[in-house]
Amino acid sequence: MVKVKVPATSANLGPGFDALGISLNLYNNFEFEEIEKGFVITGVEKSLASKNNLVYRSMMRTFDEIKYNPKGIKIHMDAQVPMSRGLGSSAACIIGGIMGANYLGGEILTTDEILDLATEIEGHPDNVAPALLGGLVVSIVEGRKTIYNRLDIAKGIKFVALIPDFTLSTKKAREVLPETIPFKDCTNNVSRVSMLLTALVNGKFHLLEYAFKDVLHQPYRGKLIPSFFDIIDRSQQYGAFGAYLSGAGPTIMAVAKEDDGEFTKKIKKYLKTLDNSWTVEELQIDTKGATVEKDLKTCYI
Ligand code: HSE
Repeated sequence: MVKVKVPATSANLGPGFDALGISLNLYNNFEFEEIEKGFVITGVEKSLASKNNLVYRSMMRTFDEIKYNPKGIKIHMDAQVPMSRGLGSSAACIIGGIMGANYLGGEILTTDEILDLATEIEGHPDNVAPALLGGLVVSIVEGRKTIYNRLDIAKGIKFVALIPDFTLSTKKAREVLPETIPFKDCTNNVSRVSMLLTALVNGKFHLLEYAFKDVLHQPYRGKLIPSFFDIIDRSQQYGAFGAYLSGAGPTIMAVAKEDDGEFTKKIKKYLKTLDNSWTVEELQIDTKGATVEKDLKTCYI
């Protein structure tokens, strides 16, 4: 048996569409075991307990890749990352499934190969890369390879996730995006994403307000989320450095000073006045990424 722990992730960070992602200290925990025969999955609601489960599908794709044929598979999941909220729950399931299968099959794949396979399954690298590697990760897809660079962010900030009670599928959130964009929108995002990375690395957090101003996806997706633009404005008014749509949404991520207790109180009070119900979670950057606890047989001796 093997245990795999995979962090939540927040992709795009505003302007870094399909390229940037950060891992956060909220986790999906998985246990994988090869059994004599069949397929057992526990810890999930009934509608997810089938062979269509993303964790199982990711395992099967991995077994296929490493040419390993397990007799039977048992999966247990304890998922803390909310689904379809823009916090990387699919990426966590994909990375969990691949790493579990890779371990059961004899640890054939390297970290880079795990990432390439995860990107192929997810379709873009910006959640799976930080879920696997931890921290802030910049990724590029070059043919079938995912090229990445992991960065350390300066200390002093926290990520405050504003999570609504409704879901938004990535598919739907991608469908509202335009097929082409004006040249000036490209230059806008190139400059913002450059500013964003330098501000995060050298701790010039007051620049985040400007850096988060993306025009490739947030203006379109924001319309799918009631009060999106107001919540971004309020976050800044209440003292956050800035706020952006986390991944494809609908979670909004505010970035505030680590020791700012007032921001969370104020934004919670404001969110209570809205029609939907919102949960506020203060999160920190996870720097480890996915971890595997091996050789658990010894636990039973
Ligand atoms: N980069 C992706 C998007 C993240 O914005 O659609 C969500 O999976």
